[in-house]
Amino acid sequence: MTDEKPKRQYNYSYAHKAKMASRKAVKAKEKEIARLKKNLENKTRRLRDKKETLKVVQNAETNKESKKGLVIEEDKLDTLPSPVKKLIEEEKERVVFKPNSGPQTDFLAAPEQDVLYGGSAGGGKSYAMLVDPLRFMHIKEHRALLLRKSMPELRELIDKSRELYPKAFKGAKFREVEKIWRFPSGASLEFGYLDRDADVYRYQGQSYTWIGIDELTQYPTEFPLQYLQSRLRTTNNEIQCYIRCTANPGGVGGNWVKKRYLDPAPPNESFTGQDKITRKFIPARLEDNPYLSEDGKYEQMLQSLPAVQRKQLLEGNWDVSEGAAFTEFDYDSHVIEPFDLPKHWVRVKGIDYGYAAESAVVWAAVDPSDETLIVYRELYQKGLTGEDLATRIFEFEKEDRLSVSGVLDGAAWARTGATGPTVGEVLSRAGHKLRRADKNRIQGKIQIHERLKLNDKGRPKLQIFKSCPNLIREIQSIPIDPSRPEDVDTKASDHAYDALRYLVMSRPRATSVWEEMSNKKRWTPSDPTFGY
Ligand SMILES: Nc1ncnc2c1ncn2[C@@H]1O[C@H](COP(=O)(O)OP(=O)(O)OP(=O)(O)O)[C@@H](O)[C@H]1O
Ligand SMILES: [Mg+2]
Repeated sequence: MTDEKPKRQYNYSYAHKAKMASRKAVKAKEKEIARLKKNLENKTRRLRDKKETLKVVQNAETNKESKKGLVIEEDKLDTLPSPVKKLIEEEKERVVFKPNSGPQTDFLAAPEQDVLYGGSAGGGKSYAMLVDPLRFMHIKEHRALLLRKSMPELRELIDKSRELYPKAFKGAKFREVEKIWRFPSGASLEFGYLDRDADVYRYQGQSYTWIGIDELTQYPTEFPLQYLQSRLRTTNNEIQCYIRCTANPGGVGGNWVKKRYLDPAPPNESFTGQDKITRKFIPARLEDNPYLSEDGKYEQMLQSLPAVQRKQLLEGNWDVSEGAAFTEFDYDSHVIEPFDLPKHWVRVKGIDYGYAAESAVVWAAVDPSDETLIVYRELYQKGLTGEDLATRIFEFEKEDRLSVSGVLDGAAWARTGATGPTVGEVLSRAGHKLRRADKNRIQGKIQIHERLKLNDKGRPKLQIFKSCPNLIREIQSIPIDPSRPEDVDTKASDHAYDALRYLVMSRPRATSVWEEMSNKKRWTPSDPTFGY
């Protein structure tokens, strides 16, 4: 027997059936609306994103036009919708150079004719110097010249240019022998080194539209830059001619570089020099170059330097110097253009002999109008024996009318146990009129300070021809001895300085003793000494 419950049967009225159907329809519609609403929200969000993208891209375009050169900032990249992000990532692959924001960008966009980018080591200065001349490389007449002090230093720049230039300009070719890049437009960039001032004459008769000097403070005088300035010209007015330099504070040229670029106006402010050239100084800081500053290792290395160098190379401070001994030395007052010295002016010389280190000879004439000593010639050379030096001095003195008497350092007269004549004897036997120099170092230094003082007409008692760069460099940069502040630091290069010190201590006079005596004889016939 089965005990199954009979199934219940419902009989709905028409009205009820209609009610249920309409409820179902409403629910379906509500569901549809919710779906559409969600859809709309998504679409609205996507529209907002797209508008945002457009804004970022437009901003980047405007910046590009104003030559700020900024493309989309790294941190904005992740906020962009993925297709745009992908596009930009691809584009980034093709970007050869992206300036660091801040000073490097400012340097590359600077409109002034002459700009110094100087300060901390590692700020990205040399890198920017390689990029700057590229701005007119699409124009045939653009000729750039990029200089450094020596060939090995230049090599660093050349190697970096080999990484950069072929990517930036397809078809750019480097000719190793001449060290010239030729670009498809016909434009060129030449690398050169300027070791001595006289090396600038290699560029005589040339013209350039861009001249750059990397590490300007390595040059003791402003002369090379002034000379090269005259080589800057173009016939194409689409190109503007520029001088661009970089430097770390300090160095043998720290003083004149500061005077040219930093003293006339605050950093980043444009000014016009006396030569009517627009200039600007842009300070470089290590923290503005993420490529070197981010891991902090380079900064750590700079932190461990002695105080003065740390201030110069890490902080980019131009106001500290190694404690220069002759801070009163002023290029404009103490250095003069060479001129023809009157034949009758008395001439004297000071010699500091060296074989492994340089032998230095400085020649001076005494201006009889006020006894000013004018250093008109220098010899600065290593590896000369006594005989060689005797010959070299004679060669130089061919131009002088009379033989020039002089003083030679004490050590060159001293016997050191070796047999054979001393350098002093060799020079004397060869016919040079020489005396042993007064070796009092401290008195000698005081005498030089005395002579550097300006009189009320602004003239010092010591002037040096521009053609004596070694003496100028040494006087400008020789530091005081930290453990004996009344003397200079003998560890620094001091050969030309010593030769000058001997010369000054020999008490050069406009009238020689001989002349004085013969004048006396001539003009005082009743001189009792002679029994008249
Ligand atoms: N915009 C840049 N893009 C890529 N790399 C850069 C950029 N700027 C600088 N660098 C890198 O940073 C490093 C240091 O730069 P650079 O040699 O130009 O510094 P510097 O200021 O000349 O240093 P120093 O004072 O020692 O001469 C280099 O390896 C250079 O390639
Ligand atoms: Mg550099």
